[in-house]
Amino acid sequence: MIALGSDHAGYEYKELLKKHLDALGKPYQDFGTASPDSVDYPDVGHTVSKSVASGKCLRGILICGTGIGMSIVANKHSGIRAAVCESTASAKLSREHNDANILCLGARITPWETAKEIVDTFLTTPFSGGERHMNRIQKIHSLTGL
Ligand code: RB5
Repeated sequence: MIALGSDHAGYEYKELLKKHLDALGKPYQDFGTASPDSVDYPDVGHTVSKSVASGKCLRGILICGTGIGMSIVANKHSGIRAAVCESTASAKLSREHNDANILCLGARITPWETAKEIVDTFLTTPFSGGERHMNRIQKIHSLTGL
């Protein structure tokens, strides 16, 4: 299950993304926002992050204007590794090297067609594994207590 969330700036992309995921047959849960009216990104970011941190959802996708606010919120949660990606290359590496579990997109930064490719890459790229990367990921959490 993929947890989806956006603020008003990311609302349109979230709605487009739902159609895209429907076409791919990938299940998701929409944590809002439910309209283009202004909301505070931390509210939605925390809800989505909690669903991933608890294991209820395997991955999350958060969309705001830049992706930055959402990533800051998400990375305050234990067990979360959120990556702002503006290219498929960074999405691929965020999975391979960082085992990122939340993708953050900036609807005011990244064109929709690119964002869609970033999502596809993020959802289909496995963690490369290996002691080197696993040790570094373990340190992210042990050194921060998160
Ligand atoms: C909302 O105007 C904007 O600040 C928000 O979407 C996001 O870009 C914050 O990081």
